[in-house]
Amino acid sequence: MTTTEQPATQATPPGIGGIGHSLRRREDDRFLRGAGRFVDDIVLPRMLHAAVLRSPVPHARIASIDTSAAAALPGVVAVVTGADLAAHNLAWMPTLSGDTQAVLATDKVRFQGQEVAAVIAEDPYVAHDALDLIDVDYDTLTPVVNPRQALADDAPLIRDDKEGQEGNRCYRWEAGDREATDRAFAEADVVVELDTHYPRSHPSPLETCGCVADVNPATGHATIYMTSQAPHAHRTLFALVAGLPEEKIRIISPDIGGGFGNKVPIYPGYVVATAASLLIGRPVKWVESRSENLISTGFARDYHMHGELALKRDGRILGLRVNMLSDNGAFFADAQPTKFKAGLFHIVTGSYDYPAAHVVTEGAYTNKAPGGVAYRCSFRVTEASYLIERLVQNAAYELGVDPAELRLRNFIRPDQFPYRSPTGFTYDSGDYARALRLAMERVGYDDLRREQAEAREQGRLIGIGLASFTEVVGAGNHKEFDIAGIKMFDSAELRVHPTGKAILKLGVRSQGQGHETTFAQIVAEELGIPATDIAVQEGDTDNTPYGLGTYASRSTPVGGAATVMVARKLRDKARVIAAHLLEAAEEDLEWEPGRFFVKGTPSRGVTIQDVAFAAYTNFPEGLEPGLEGVHYYDPPNMTYPFGSYIVVVEVDAETGQWKVRRMVAVDDCGVRINPMIVEGQIHGGLAEGYAMANMQFITFDEDGNCIGSNFMDYLIPTAWETPRFELDETVTPSPHHPIGAKGVGESATVGSPAAYVNAVIDALAHLGVRNIDMPVLPHRVWAAVRDAGGSGGGEQGGVPPAP
Ligand code: CDP
Repeated sequence: MTTTEQPATQATPPGIGGIGHSLRRREDDRFLRGAGRFVDDIVLPRMLHAAVLRSPVPHARIASIDTSAAAALPGVVAVVTGADLAAHNLAWMPTLSGDTQAVLATDKVRFQGQEVAAVIAEDPYVAHDALDLIDVDYDTLTPVVNPRQALADDAPLIRDDKEGQEGNRCYRWEAGDREATDRAFAEADVVVELDTHYPRSHPSPLETCGCVADVNPATGHATIYMTSQAPHAHRTLFALVAGLPEEKIRIISPDIGGGFGNKVPIYPGYVVATAASLLIGRPVKWVESRSENLISTGFARDYHMHGELALKRDGRILGLRVNMLSDNGAFFADAQPTKFKAGLFHIVTGSYDYPAAHVVTEGAYTNKAPGGVAYRCSFRVTEASYLIERLVQNAAYELGVDPAELRLRNFIRPDQFPYRSPTGFTYDSGDYARALRLAMERVGYDDLRREQAEAREQGRLIGIGLASFTEVVGAGNHKEFDIAGIKMFDSAELRVHPTGKAILKLGVRSQGQGHETTFAQIVAEELGIPATDIAVQEGDTDNTPYGLGTYASRSTPVGGAATVMVARKLRDKARVIAAHLLEAAEEDLEWEPGRFFVKGTPSRGVTIQDVAFAAYTNFPEGLEPGLEGVHYYDPPNMTYPFGSYIVVVEVDAETGQWKVRRMVAVDDCGVRINPMIVEGQIHGGLAEGYAMANMQFITFDEDGNCIGSNFMDYLIPTAWETPRFELDETVTPSPHHPIGAKGVGESATVGSPAAYVNAVIDALAHLGVRNIDMPVLPHRVWAAVRDAGGSGGGEQGGVPPAP
């Protein structure tokens, strides 16, 4: 059910398949047949294999490394250490947050699983066997695993490699207005506080990270097949780091088996394989194992958050104060714009209208793997959305107001858009109350509240959890957004061939989101060429225009907009050719999907296919031949998708087990290009959100050993555990996007964790329970009930307010 009609819904007939058609994903055919081509499918003549030796200890000085036995193993071609790389100035590399990261450790190891040496061998089994023959002498040091302890004066210094680094603080950053926020708190009747930890998690894509580096010794050309969500940006970074001429580097990102942010950073394995290929003169493949992926590659979250919400007794929110401490691991490697040290965490004010907010964020180095990737999230929006939605829910209990009612009283109203948030975002459009009301209607909210009250009397616990999130996706604009200095725009190149078939090339890179289908639909909408006649190409830097890649749900807001714009350029040119063919003036022509005709005489027309043929065979004198163009799109603003999720759970207070009975998700991502794909994206995100709320975290023991580096400990929900989802939608177009679309890939991962947790808290709220940290494991629920009245239930705790 749709509450409003999409402005452009199905303007094209099904045979063309433009916007609003649920076309089946054309890429699925090859995936379902096992005919996809992933990095590990690539086999080149004379190819060697790399395996990486990782540190078993989290913090130690490397006294010595003896590689002689490994080097002597038949089939081993080379053993590489940090010292070898240092000779080529490649032992350290820059991170996406402007820090440095060891490629192979030279001085110290700083986390368990850190890359220490690599073996290059004729076959992968020999390479792995040889790792056991490398003898590393570690002088162990005290590990620091708690970020608060890391900031203590007497904590061991982790980054002694950095000149001038005195403690373990890696950054401090603030947003908003401290004085205005203090004033708001002074006026408050009620202040609600929450300490919570968003645990360290991992994107765990089905395909782990890897590459095949092929540097041709004769020409110096480097072709690197790589699991990359951002091939163009990676090419530039390779050129800058390795000093290779950029025109001689070609990054090919073939089919990708899921990315979720895990394939945005550059990892040591890529650098080692490329350096080895350069020095040995043969192709080198490196593909990490599942445990290597989980232990060392691109973790997410790990934010310790303290939030305070100031309210009037009538429920009006006056202000928000947040202190956040992030555990960055040994290297500050978060993928985020230079300007924002905690990503877009400062969108933490959420869907609500209040005048004042102040956010202080700090990061600490610890002896853990680096990462801080935006796991299915626009930089750090997930953590932000979780905090505000948990705070608002708790505020409702303190005030004795229904959690839905409290939200409705404080939502930014539709007439307030564009809305400037107190931390500096300009929300483009929204109708939050409509989405929440629809979700309430779908779930039968009032009846559920009655049932909850009756159940409590009978000793049964039912909880109803809400989350009304606002996301921010589609970076840039170029003024505020960059990755390692490269501005965040994106591009599309479109060529219509003489027979009317087309090829669209993009700077973004799908990892399973269905771009080959949806971007063809955009061209179909704009030019009337059937979507099935449009090939979509991404991921090869030699054959696609420059772009910043796919993460943070930016493909549709930015790459999609570039596609619209280039298609419109071609339509303008097609009009000139059509006028020539019809011997009419351009202004006398009308357009319908796929065809120009003379106003008032619909039978006198030419199809887009006729025009395409004429562009190469019969074009007007003086006009540039061909039908081809490129557009680089610099978005004027981000897009702000939103939604309201309601989860109903039953909790067994005896065992702490909880079960989802209903999950209703109303999403608004503006105009939907392919409603079926959008729903698929939401299903995936809701399942991942459920996993985070219910079962997933990567923890460390006090010695810095990583717990959760395999799928026995780090749990992935199967269809058996995953709840059933009931989806609905509203459509509030983005006013600045050329077809009104907003991104959607991450909405459900961002919005849903708070809804699940709020549901469990709601079941226990009357007992005084106000927090259980994720994952909401049965023993935590049980302990929270036992300690009812406190706010326990977590194991790692939040951060106390800053002095
Ligand atoms: O950047 P990423 O592809 O991860 O995220 P997205 O731009 O939100 O798009 C995810 C998928 O949903 C793509 O295939 C989009 O084209 C599709 N989509 C859609 O059909 N309509 C929207 N309004 C947004 C996304």
